[in-house]
Amino acid sequence: MQAVILVGGEGTRLRPLTSTVPKPVVPLVDRPFMAYMLEWLSRHGVEDVVMACGFLPTMLREALGDGARYGVRLTFVEEPEPMGTGGALRYAAEQLPGGLGERFLMLNGDVLTDADVRAQIDQHEATGARATLGLVPVEDPSAYGLVRLSADRKVAGFLEKPKAEEIDTNLISAGIYVLEHSVLDLIEPGRNVSIEREVWPALVGAGLYGTAHEGAYWLDIGTPDRYLEGSRDILAGAVRTAVRERLDAHGLARGEACRVDGHLRGPVVLGDGCVVEEGAVVGPHVVLGDRVHVAPGATVEDAVVLSDAVVGRGSVVRGAILAAGAHVGADCTITGHAVLGEGVRLGAGNVVGHGMRLFPGVELPDGAVAF
Ligand code: GTP
Repeated sequence: MQAVILVGGEGTRLRPLTSTVPKPVVPLVDRPFMAYMLEWLSRHGVEDVVMACGFLPTMLREALGDGARYGVRLTFVEEPEPMGTGGALRYAAEQLPGGLGERFLMLNGDVLTDADVRAQIDQHEATGARATLGLVPVEDPSAYGLVRLSADRKVAGFLEKPKAEEIDTNLISAGIYVLEHSVLDLIEPGRNVSIEREVWPALVGAGLYGTAHEGAYWLDIGTPDRYLEGSRDILAGAVRTAVRERLDAHGLARGEACRVDGHLRGPVVLGDGCVVEEGAVVGPHVVLGDRVHVAPGATVEDAVVLSDAVVGRGSVVRGAILAAGAHVGADCTITGHAVLGEGVRLGAGNVVGHGMRLFPGVELPDGAVAF
């Protein structure tokens, strides 16, 4: 089975993490985010994966290689300009030397999931569908575009921004699709086409089905809040991934050449060459990338600190993200889902919270913000 993964978006909602690195390559715990999708697809028998790329494709190629280490064969297709979700699929099909097969998967490139794709493919075959949408239930349906499913699993319609009294379903699209080749005929070539807005509605009553992945783990990691949630869930084992197997009985995994004089509270994953100084407390639910330095007396909890970042003496980083090379001076407090972009430098005594995002290269002197 082939799969096409759409990775051509700019990932604006995950900035500043995606200001310098494309979303599929942003590290999630100990590997690029896309590794989870590839490992998941490989477990479900997918062998060939086409990455439909636009933004910064070179970094994606360098990070993922030929896919062998994830159990798949990767092909990259680069759009000259963004074609939209449908346009990107059609473009990829035209660019591939062998085209796409009679039946294939299409996936949004930002889902962390362990959904049973095999069950969705089996249902697709059994119903003779032209397209089968993977669906997941959500707790607060008012915030999403919803999908109505009938008892025979046909998609009965879509509800965009529904009023409270209209809501009679809690299913949303999971960004996991099984498609027959003939769906490509519904996408006009050479133009920007949204498959959600232009193709699915045309297929209602004409071969569009849905599979509800009840009970599966599913998360769109496209915002800082959800990126943190995904990291926490991987560490806690709430989603099936290869990371959990690396943790010891205390929930710890350390890379090589780490020096820990402070205290680790699992689950914690440390990259290579990390230093946790005397009196520092790291964990629970913390990821430190390679060569992260946590100074004496600092606290890091429920946080992601990417490679070469520094947490200064006595500082607190809780519920926040530090991108690669960020440097937090002494006695700072970084909380409230704040995100420090690559190479941000904070002097001593700054207080950053309330979802504040500092973009790559920002430098603040001592005591500059209390937010
Ligand atoms: P935001 O900018 O934060 O909304 O993120 P995004 O760019 O990823 O957009 P969105 O989540 O709406 O896109 C859903 C999926 O489709 C993502 O995996 C995108 O990478 C992908 N995608 C969106 N537009 C295009 C496009 O024009 N070409 C390709 N190849 N992929 C696209």
